[in-house]
Amino acid sequence: MDLSSIFKDLGSVMEMTITIFTPKIFYSFAAAFLAVIVTIITLIFIKKEKKLFILSILAIEALTIIIMILISFGTADYPRNYLNKDSKYQLHEQDILLSEAADERGLYIGAAINLDQIEDKNYSSLISREFNAFTAENDMKWSNTLINGELGNYDFSKIDKYIEFAETNDMRLRGHALVWGKGYPTQLRKGLDQSDNKEQYMRDVLEEYISTMVGHYAGRIDVWDVVNEPIALSQPQLEENIFYEAMGSEYIAYAFNLAHKADPEAELFLNGYIGKDPEILLNLLQDLVNEGVPIDGFGLQGHTIFEAKDVNELAKVLQKISDLGLKVEITELDVRLRSLGDSDPEDIYETQGQYVREILEACMEIENFVGITFWGVDDSANWFDLTPPFSWMKPNDPLLFDINLEKKPMYYEVYDALKNQ
Ligand code: G3I
Repeated sequence: MDLSSIFKDLGSVMEMTITIFTPKIFYSFAAAFLAVIVTIITLIFIKKEKKLFILSILAIEALTIIIMILISFGTADYPRNYLNKDSKYQLHEQDILLSEAADERGLYIGAAINLDQIEDKNYSSLISREFNAFTAENDMKWSNTLINGELGNYDFSKIDKYIEFAETNDMRLRGHALVWGKGYPTQLRKGLDQSDNKEQYMRDVLEEYISTMVGHYAGRIDVWDVVNEPIALSQPQLEENIFYEAMGSEYIAYAFNLAHKADPEAELFLNGYIGKDPEILLNLLQDLVNEGVPIDGFGLQGHTIFEAKDVNELAKVLQKISDLGLKVEITELDVRLRSLGDSDPEDIYETQGQYVREILEACMEIENFVGITFWGVDDSANWFDLTPPFSWMKPNDPLLFDINLEKKPMYYEVYDALKNQ
């Protein structure tokens, strides 16, 4: 790894660090860290006899930083005022369904789900009633579709269960995701490293994988995330993933053409971030459209922890994408409580709900906006709780239903936005 990529990675770690901490915590860290540096410098230049005194100060400062880290990583406790009987949410009309409100607008409302939830009667009933669409959170990824990670050796049994659930409940199933720079089989890296013709090797592997996956389910999977996260998160450039390494940006159009050939009826989406410079994404999509690549839409993941930009800025970019004639969709929305900034409002869950409403209302103004998918059903199963450093700073509580499957303010705010009330 060369020095520039180390600094690039350090930069993104810093970026992430600033994002995941609330500013107050981050700046108090920085102050304490600075104090330690100043002390060390003083230690170097000061005369011997005072070194002991300075060393003790240093020890106290280091201890302070450690305590601060533990405090900031600790769990917080936010009041669930929305459960109070006189809260406006408990007084809200209760005989409601998000799916009905979305259907009235001709929009999809979905959630990322897993097989345990399909096989659990409470979850499967809630999912099929409240949503008209869903995404398999992990089981349709390359890391889970192959037996022992062997290229060409497929296990379709899990996907068949999602298809059956979608068809039984007349729900749109989003295939996620055919090509992603993460979670690919280790055999792919080995094969590429050993190949004399890396571009041809990758072309052959992608052709076999995409043709088999999409072809096997032709006519039964409505929409595919063909390429996931082609735009880098913290650098203004395309993500230089393993596919880019072998084929340059050409891998993107190639994947879409293969998917279209295998199932001409399926809608094909590019899914991911807007990234640091929206022009990178907009130019990519414009090029794909101009080249006649069979792309139907762009899915903005919407993990607000990464792109908690001003909602209007997000909407402006989505509007430009819609103006290219592409459908736009929010495909993986979740809002970590701590990403709502430093303020600890009386009811952070209400702030969270209002923020999601703001996003949805801005998107509904866009002509080709087709739907919103939340990256999970309820707070008891969200990826932040399983992913350091977010898992060290609970509660994340990023979704529509709370840990007891109670409707949160976010649920009511989304419903009211859809009903325009
Ligand atoms: O199921 C195994 C379990 O048996 C094992 O004990 C455990 C510990 O190793 O791992 C479990 O698998 C994990 C899986 O989630 C299910 O929890 C994988 O390690 C873990 O990598 C996987 O993380 C998923 C991640 O994508 C990587 O695929 C998250 O659940 C999932 O929410 C997340 O979703 C991504 C989208 O696909 C793309 N956009 C970003 C989004 C968030 O990262």
